Amino acid sequence: MTSLRDIRSTFLDYFGRNEHEIAASAPLVPQDDPTLLFVNAGMVPFKNYFTGAETPSSVRATSSQKCVRAGGKHNDLDNVGYTARHHTFFEMLGNFSFGDYFKEEAIHHAWTLITREFALPADKLLITVYSEDEEARTLWRKIAGLSDDRIIGISTSDNFWSMGDTGPCGPCSEIFFDHGPDVWGGPPGSPEEDGDRFIEIWNLVFMQFEQLEPGKRIDLPKPSIDTGMGLERIAAILQGKHNNYDVDLFANLIAAGEDVLGVKAQGEALASHRVIADHLRSTCFLMADGVSPSNEGRGYVLRRIMRRAMRHAHLLGASEPVIWKLVEALKTEMGDAYPELGRAQALLEDTLKIEEERFQRTLGRGLSLLEEATADMAEGEALPGETAFKLYDTYGFPLDLTQDALRAKGMTVDEAGFETAMEKQRADARASKFSSGQQAPDTVWFGVREAAGASNFLGYEGTDGEGTLQAIVFDGAEQVRLGEGQSAELVFDQTPFYGESGGQAGDTGLITFANGSVFRVDDTQKRAGDLHVHAGVLESGEIVPGETARLEADAAKRAESKANHSATHLLHAALRKRLGEHVTQKGSYVGPDRLRFDFSHNKPVSAEELRTIEADVNAIIRQNTAVSTRSMSPEAAIEAGALALFGEKYGDEVRVLTMGRELADTDMAYSVELCGGTHVERTGDIGLFKIIGESAVSSGVRRIEALTAEAARLYLDEQMGFGRQAADALKTPLPELASRVTALMDERKKLDRQLAEAKKQLAMGGGGSAAPAGPEEIGGVSFIGRVVEGVGGKDLRGLVDEARTSMGASGVAVFIGVNDGKAALAVGVSADLHERFTAVDLVRAGSAAVGGKGGGGRGDFAQAGGPDGSRADEALAAIKAVLAGA
Ligand code: ALA
Repeated sequence: MTSLRDIRSTFLDYFGRNEHEIAASAPLVPQDDPTLLFVNAGMVPFKNYFTGAETPSSVRATSSQKCVRAGGKHNDLDNVGYTARHHTFFEMLGNFSFGDYFKEEAIHHAWTLITREFALPADKLLITVYSEDEEARTLWRKIAGLSDDRIIGISTSDNFWSMGDTGPCGPCSEIFFDHGPDVWGGPPGSPEEDGDRFIEIWNLVFMQFEQLEPGKRIDLPKPSIDTGMGLERIAAILQGKHNNYDVDLFANLIAAGEDVLGVKAQGEALASHRVIADHLRSTCFLMADGVSPSNEGRGYVLRRIMRRAMRHAHLLGASEPVIWKLVEALKTEMGDAYPELGRAQALLEDTLKIEEERFQRTLGRGLSLLEEATADMAEGEALPGETAFKLYDTYGFPLDLTQDALRAKGMTVDEAGFETAMEKQRADARASKFSSGQQAPDTVWFGVREAAGASNFLGYEGTDGEGTLQAIVFDGAEQVRLGEGQSAELVFDQTPFYGESGGQAGDTGLITFANGSVFRVDDTQKRAGDLHVHAGVLESGEIVPGETARLEADAAKRAESKANHSATHLLHAALRKRLGEHVTQKGSYVGPDRLRFDFSHNKPVSAEELRTIEADVNAIIRQNTAVSTRSMSPEAAIEAGALALFGEKYGDEVRVLTMGRELADTDMAYSVELCGGTHVERTGDIGLFKIIGESAVSSGVRRIEALTAEAARLYLDEQMGFGRQAADALKTPLPELASRVTALMDERKKLDRQLAEAKKQLAMGGGGSAAPAGPEEIGGVSFIGRVVEGVGGKDLRGLVDEARTSMGASGVAVFIGVNDGKAALAVGVSADLHERFTAVDLVRAGSAAVGGKGGGGRGDFAQAGGPDGSRADEALAAIKAVLAGA
């Protein structure tokens, strides 16, 4: 049997023998291309070679490219599991000509490879061409010797391929394989073409145009070739299968799924198993390339795919997280070709588990709601958009998950209604608008890069050097001169200024030209990959390209950045050693002022853990060993155990930084990492490392902020200062500050209690006795009435209750508290008196005297207030008058 592995290498070897450079798969997140969600075809990483924005090192290339089609123009999500040939993740085999060969050689290679190397019988093959492309038709006739009825002209967009709404495009020609009359379906262009009998296996795109915007298309500099063959489809054919999901790789993944779920992939369970196997691949590859589940952009597409898989696992009876258990099987199948799966394994398992745990909390309830909502619906009906939105908003059901769940019942969703509900909510919720955070590739910079070449970076050795000005850019274009006071971006042939990358901030400094002009650099950025672009202002003089200059980056700031950058590596290593290998870098900032490191971890890092990590980093600093830098191929670096960033595209040569010795086993390096940044020479140069904050960034991502060197010392000094001030104020030695403060707090609590008690006693008649002074007799009623200073509502009630208890039947107690000039009245009346008057009657009489408006309560207890506390005695008298008269 020909395995996927063999097919991949046969393809790449064939084109390698035919002078194509074999390129490694690029990461799934497009680099420098905000127009695309994910790499969705083999040509995407080469886009700039087709348009001429960049020049390739070879005019022919071949690759097996990881692709995800789950959003945007090419989206296969809905079909997965239900057809024989759709995937959200797949590998695309392709050969590319960047203005080199065109149709004839492309057709020749395709035909030779498929009929000789893969040995497919010619009589099983059909060709489509774009209906207006007579040239392609003639070439197929000539090269393949096919009769006219086997070359089908197609006039629709099926035979005109474009990357997205913008980008390279052109007519195409597709090779189809006939799976035979046992499988339902018709040839391309026929009404039955959607069946699985005639399957497209290879698309040859004759790239001729670039779509700039809708309706605006220009010619490419030179006609080019882009081809794409789905590895899984060709594997199915070569393995004698009709369904991609029956090829070796999927059969193994599905078998692993059967084991984990305890349900055979048969009958109704089959589609679910296929969806799970497919979605496992896309989610794991996306995460290994740096995407994390979230509620917007790429992260939301990832979460949608995950949740779909999780619903299918639920359908198969899973009641606890299971998908994560399949990561190991995926690694076994694909870890050789894609070592990033092994490197990210802990992260993948952890994230899947957490996401599934979280979704399972609402999944069951959401499904019951869906059951109820559809109970009265007939096949063919659409679920109201509002309900779909509720499922989305409250139960975390992505729209396509709801659609997928309804599919089995032959129902759909009112998508317009869903959108309306969503729109309504967006007004006050965060918009889930896609933003990649990357700047659009700026053609200006590619132009400068072509003409000037990469900037040679001198900054690993020092902070100053000589350079010749290559380009002046402002107002979005290259300019021929720069005058005094003008802002611009400058490019030199070489520079000691570090361009922002790898989290490290760009350098600032001064550039003094041979003609005396001075340019102040406020920031340095990297553009077009390896151009260092100095942004700032010409403070004096005038300059033109060709001028030589002395470039001086701010040495003090650079030294601080270096210490922070090296400390970031040590922190990364310490986190992995103390918290586990699932810790991966999610982002960082390294500036002269501080460092910030974001990493995957699912709970707060405890104070104890932080202390240990900080101690470890400081121990490595004190080892004061030399920091070593070596240049090597990315493969060799990863082999050597270097930590690489997921989804990062590395050049041919990478810098590998090694720092410190393991604390337990000093033969082992402490930190080995790929990095293009600037670093200290010896770990001791970092001086001191102090963590100043730990917080959450998003679910599963934590952030540590820290200081080094002088900034760390100043911070500690300042903190000490705060402590010392407090100790001085309390006239206590610093080490006793905490116990002194605790003692003071305890004492204060005790005093508060004593004060409350004293006030109460005073109110009850004073004299240190808790019993109130005896009651007086008014109109046959026992009466206790007092005006008390500084006693508030709750305490008044206690006083009234106590006084009433002491009097028994026919008793009335009145306490009027005076606070801040206002009066608060509380009145208690025993039940036997209610026929004559109630507490409410009395409190109203009293409150009128202090300017209050009524009062409230029940017969036995009532309260009221009034603004005029100075008339409290009159209030008491008013109440007494009621008693006397009643
Ligand atoms: N770029 C072409 C495709 O994806 C080959 O079909």
